[in-house]
Amino acid sequence: MTGERPATTARTRPAPADATAVAHPNIALIKYWGKRDKQLVLPWTDSLSMTLDIFPTTTRVRLEPGIRHDTVVHDGIPLDGLPRHRVTAFLDLVRQRAELTTRAVVETRNTGPTGAGLASSASGFAALATAAGAAYGLTLDPTALSRLARRGSGSAARSVFGGFVLWHAGHPDHDDPDLGSYAEPVPVRLDDLEPALVVAVVDAGPKALPSRDAMRRTVDTSPLYRPWTVSCRADLRGMQEALHRADLDAVGEIAERNALGMHATMLTARPAVRYLSPATLTVLDAVLELRRAGVSAWATMDAGPNIKVLCRRADAGRVAEALRAAVPGVAVHVAGPGPGARLLETAV
Ligand code: DP6
Repeated sequence: MTGERPATTARTRPAPADATAVAHPNIALIKYWGKRDKQLVLPWTDSLSMTLDIFPTTTRVRLEPGIRHDTVVHDGIPLDGLPRHRVTAFLDLVRQRAELTTRAVVETRNTGPTGAGLASSASGFAALATAAGAAYGLTLDPTALSRLARRGSGSAARSVFGGFVLWHAGHPDHDDPDLGSYAEPVPVRLDDLEPALVVAVVDAGPKALPSRDAMRRTVDTSPLYRPWTVSCRADLRGMQEALHRADLDAVGEIAERNALGMHATMLTARPAVRYLSPATLTVLDAVLELRRAGVSAWATMDAGPNIKVLCRRADAGRVAEALRAAVPGVAVHVAGPGPGARLLETAV
């Protein structure tokens, strides 16, 4: 994938290289919430997600030997401050590995809301890792690419792959902890499971508190954090078995309780982190109503008020209709399992 250009070409001849990649967001059914190593972005727990087929991010990385600083343009607007710093720090890591110092122009386009708990950093850093790795001539197999994407944003490790994906936390006593923490696809009989995620955007604006800060505060101060990590291990085992059986009810039930548990850790942080809004709770009520009416529908929420409802593809229309009726003006999108990150042949 990214290994087509030999690393030596880029190292010995720093001519402008240009690569464009696309990646999709993923939604965790078993959440990642909390780092044991902030610099290497190593999580406390394993997590498991579904990559979506909506809201792709496309990123172009062009090496520019003449410039002194990286330029980062997001949806046509030059970035500065922390968002720009996260991209340039990531490029520094790539440059260090490529043994190059050439700066780059990064242009990225997002088709979904940014920073609203809809996994834009997952698709963003998976696309950036794929494009930057190729532009700087790194030889990366998908596992190495997943490790690299992880350094930009933890959840991006999972967007390297399509479908259902498990991200291994790795072992703290591993000689090289970086090596043990990567994502890999989980084989699932999609024709039997027929999963859909109905995404209800109750608020498309960026969150007040970035998830990175919220995560740190939760780990440092919530008395429920450790118990939640313990319950995550049982949830993951149950989830893997449920996926193996293609048992959507069990997948949904475990996903919903895992997400609610994560939000319980946030609510008990000091000071409390509350991403869920009254509209979120209204949607949760609608999901409960759907279940009472016999529809298999289960909710999951990330670092924002928006909700994703897992259901069977055949029920997605009915679920979408119920969510629209519950919250007037809500934007509803239906997603299925999507592809992993990939390089594009031509720049966009
Ligand atoms: C709630 O991957 O955005 O969406 O590693 O600090 O960049 P950083 O965090 P990020 O966190 C995602 C948290 C989550 C749950 C999940 O996707 O597993």
